[in-house]
Amino acid sequence: MKFGYFDDQDREYVITRPDTPLPWINYLGCQEYFGIISNTAGGYSFYRDARLRRLTRYRYNNVPMDCGGRYIYIRDNHSGRFWSPSWQPTRHDLGDYSCRHGLGYTVIGSAYEGIEARTRYFIPLDENLEIWQLTVVNRRTEPARISVFASIEFCLWDAQDDATNFQRNLSIGQVEVEDGIIYHKTEYRERRNHFAYFACSEPTAGFETSRDAFLGPYRGWEAPAAVAAGQLCNSIAHGWSPMGAHQVNLDLAPRESRQILFVLGYHENPVEQKFDPPGSQTINKKLVKPVIARYLDAKTADAAFARLREHWDKLRSTCQVETPDIHTNRMVNIWNAYQCMATFNLSRSASFYESGIGRGLGFRDSNQDLLGFVHMAPCRARQRILDLAATQLPSGGAYHQYQPLTKRGNNDIGGGFNDDPHWLIVGVSAYLKETGDWSVLDEPVRYDNRPGSETPLYEHLQRSFRYTVERLGPHGLPLIGRADWNDCLNLNCFSDTPGQSFQTTTSKDGKVAESVFIAGLFVFAARELAAIACRRGLNADAARYLNEVQKMEQAICQHGWDGEWFLRAYDNAGAKIGAKECKEGRIFIESNSFCVLAGIGLDDGRAEKALAAVGKHLATPHGIVVQQPAYSGYYLHLGEISSYPPGYKENAGIFCHVNPWVVIAETRLGHGDQAFDYYRRINPSAREEISDVHRCEPYVYAQMIAGKDAPTFGEAKNSWLTGTAAWNYYAIVQWILGLRATFEGLLIAPVIPSQWPGFTARRIYRGVVYKIAIERKGNGNRVALAVDGAPIEGNLVLPPRDGRREVSIRGILS
Ligand code: BGC
Ligand code: NOJ
Repeated sequence: MKFGYFDDQDREYVITRPDTPLPWINYLGCQEYFGIISNTAGGYSFYRDARLRRLTRYRYNNVPMDCGGRYIYIRDNHSGRFWSPSWQPTRHDLGDYSCRHGLGYTVIGSAYEGIEARTRYFIPLDENLEIWQLTVVNRRTEPARISVFASIEFCLWDAQDDATNFQRNLSIGQVEVEDGIIYHKTEYRERRNHFAYFACSEPTAGFETSRDAFLGPYRGWEAPAAVAAGQLCNSIAHGWSPMGAHQVNLDLAPRESRQILFVLGYHENPVEQKFDPPGSQTINKKLVKPVIARYLDAKTADAAFARLREHWDKLRSTCQVETPDIHTNRMVNIWNAYQCMATFNLSRSASFYESGIGRGLGFRDSNQDLLGFVHMAPCRARQRILDLAATQLPSGGAYHQYQPLTKRGNNDIGGGFNDDPHWLIVGVSAYLKETGDWSVLDEPVRYDNRPGSETPLYEHLQRSFRYTVERLGPHGLPLIGRADWNDCLNLNCFSDTPGQSFQTTTSKDGKVAESVFIAGLFVFAARELAAIACRRGLNADAARYLNEVQKMEQAICQHGWDGEWFLRAYDNAGAKIGAKECKEGRIFIESNSFCVLAGIGLDDGRAEKALAAVGKHLATPHGIVVQQPAYSGYYLHLGEISSYPPGYKENAGIFCHVNPWVVIAETRLGHGDQAFDYYRRINPSAREEISDVHRCEPYVYAQMIAGKDAPTFGEAKNSWLTGTAAWNYYAIVQWILGLRATFEGLLIAPVIPSQWPGFTARRIYRGVVYKIAIERKGNGNRVALAVDGAPIEGNLVLPPRDGRREVSIRGILS
């Protein structure tokens, strides 16, 4: 069952009924001001940091779900009836409802009793504001007298405090209203220099800034008293809950259409120019007023929208493919690329599942996210790398997370996740391969953001490497620390107290429990580092790295191999995890996929065996589960993984982040059919037909799909902000289609399904447009290339020496 359709031409997903199984959301904004918006206009906005600079309120996990948003009401002043054209919050039986989620914008509208209303929501580039561009059309044969109300509820900035500290917050709310513009200035009188505003392009018939006045006692957003009465009464909020609402009265002749713009924004004044007149308590609005005036104009808004479209088209244009599979095409060309940018912008901070008040940017997460967006935004990737590296600790370990506003490591969670440092190598290497910008390695970067501690970035990578070499366990495998990629495999935690954090509770000294996954990651990352060192002429360094790689491979083969597959770990008692003798958790996906991905066991049959075991024990029609059998109860020595009911999350859920590791591993063995088959199983577009089972958005990946042990097998959860985005993008583009960035140039190494006749692609790489056409003439993966008509040796295409900006590549697969 579907709830909409893909409009590939317009690069939109069109939702055609509002009652989707879950709110299907989109993101507005791509620089500093952001918003979340659902298909019924739910969501909220913030400036840079979803916790510390929240502009509007949203009630997570409320009933009805998806509560709080950018709500418009239309009232027929003849009948007194009113409704919301976005369905929520009034939930009338609308005609012609649609929500078009596009790249950086959303258009929601419908028709009701002959009045059509559609709103385009977007954030212009380079501005800290959002535009709601509403078009109202009278489709009746009679004139219509209507009122339009637009409303938002302000959050008192710190979203965590806003939702908890009522004894203070109910007394501090302050607003100003001037020239019809509502200004939210809570705490502006003291240490904040920023305020929010809500403005309307038309002369208004009234406003409201007090939520109590707007809704009326004991009423909700579905039936605000002031809307029912048809008249806002210019309330000024003093404490309690400040909000913003505007009323516009319209007389519309038959077929007449009108446009109204609402602008919600954030502004920060220089501290010495906060007040006007100086010494007063009144906001200085001189700097912000011209900005507001500019965007209350429909032509300016249209131009800003066109610029936004161009921006996204430009980002997308770096890599476009045309394959025989429509789901591949629309994910690579549109939605997966878009989701990668969302993970870059927001890491794991704000979604329908991430409340925006918990995690900041994750060290391992953001480094992996780089794989999916570095080609679209190389300069921003460079900055991200430097920011991340500055939260590395002198030991080579890293803060697990950092706050986007301060860029400081998060002390609440600290470090000690022993995989973290290696992801920095992975991220930097991806950046180098894409850009060829070796200067980044010489950038001086601090440790723990401490002035004076700077070393070149290259040394950060060396310390990442050393971190593991200095922390090996009894089998010569890396100590796991608090956890590895699997945040929930907490082998030193031993928590028996409800509510304790599995990630920060450490009850053992950590000298025994080892991770075979980190071992595989180490081999992968240290090889990358050796390749980097070689290219810088640091051959002694490279030899040292490779020497450790060799030792690690030996340790894996000796102590990390179980006969049919790779072990997962050793616990604090030295017992095996992920071994045939285990009753539960007998085989895991992470070590088996990543060891093969890292090239371990390719020549001795181990890789083939490991992947066969994954296929046999872990693969399901909905994707590949984390482990089997699921843990049936809580095990003190395993931690959070066994806290989840079987089939959910890390306890044998289908963790979509790690599925592409298997895909890549399969391509390393040349198994194009198998790789693509796995890729397709979790591709959200390919699952669109089962939206009633999948339940999350069909245009973006979810972190998890419930595994076969769960009663809700096949149901997705935690969409949008997940490493799944980058890894699937990377797997399909660089490993299945085989358009792989390397240190030297573009490698063409497709491992595509045997039935595909071929594919074409257009890839902008280091400033050169590569037009690629691959044709299949046999069943294998051997590729013969001609570059601009001339056959070349091998399959590495070096950047043109003669300054050509366009290169054509033809490849024959046999
Ligand atoms: C989740 C993990 C997540 C972690 C972050 C756990 O509860 O299951 O997926 O990475 O929290 O702290
Ligand atoms: C989500 C976290 O963001 C990521 O860092 C982790 O690897 C996975 N969960 C698996 O636990």
